[in-house]
Amino acid sequence: MLGIIGAMNEEVELLIAELRERRSNTQAGVTLHSGVLDGHRVIITEGGIGKVNAAMTTAALIAAGATRIIFTGVAGGVHPELAVGDLVISTDCVQHDVDVTVLGYDLGVIPGEALSWSADEELRAVALAAAREQGGLRVIEGRVASGDQFVAAAERVAWLWQTFGAACTEMEGAAVAQVCARHGVPFVVIRSVSDTADTGAKVDYREFMPQMARRAKLVVRAMLRRLEREQVEPAPNGA
Ligand code: ADE
Repeated sequence: MLGIIGAMNEEVELLIAELRERRSNTQAGVTLHSGVLDGHRVIITEGGIGKVNAAMTTAALIAAGATRIIFTGVAGGVHPELAVGDLVISTDCVQHDVDVTVLGYDLGVIPGEALSWSADEELRAVALAAAREQGGLRVIEGRVASGDQFVAAAERVAWLWQTFGAACTEMEGAAVAQVCARHGVPFVVIRSVSDTADTGAKVDYREFMPQMARRAKLVVRAMLRRLEREQVEPAPNGA
């Protein structure tokens, strides 16, 4: 079963509205909407902002039976060629705000964990094809750098690019990735660029976020059409 997460209402409301056989269930503070979308049984949730919310939501989705996870939403562009409206498909995710360097670890490394968590090859390929289907947009595959910060400074963007080779920055992807890796659940992050994380980010984000969230949603729908349909079975209990 596919799990779909967006950080904010704008990122998932249109998908939830189109669910057939919709059932909603709140447990441990997380509301999951299950049903059928484009022939797939899915669970969709608004995960909230930041890594802690993303981790809680991902764990809840997996507990409810999600076996593959797609994260959809907006991001600040870091790759120098990215502009508002472009799309990023994750190769892997890092946490740019983790710093245990004083104990000898590299920046971004949580002791005992890898620096980054890799997205699933098949989901990446399907997401890439679905993104290219949108036409007229730059689509790049790259590293997603997540942190509990809204980035709005050119120096920080340069640092993210030089330190991590990040394509974009946002606040959830690496938390989803870390939880998925722990459970052996394949994932991919799809981000539409709402701003370029510099001094204009606040204004651009407010102006473009709703439209870019819809764009990322279109990619998810195109992915569902491309992914082989699983047998649509009755909803599992509690989902
Ligand atoms: N999501 C969208 N734009 C962002 C930014 N500039 N920083 C963090 N998260 C974002």
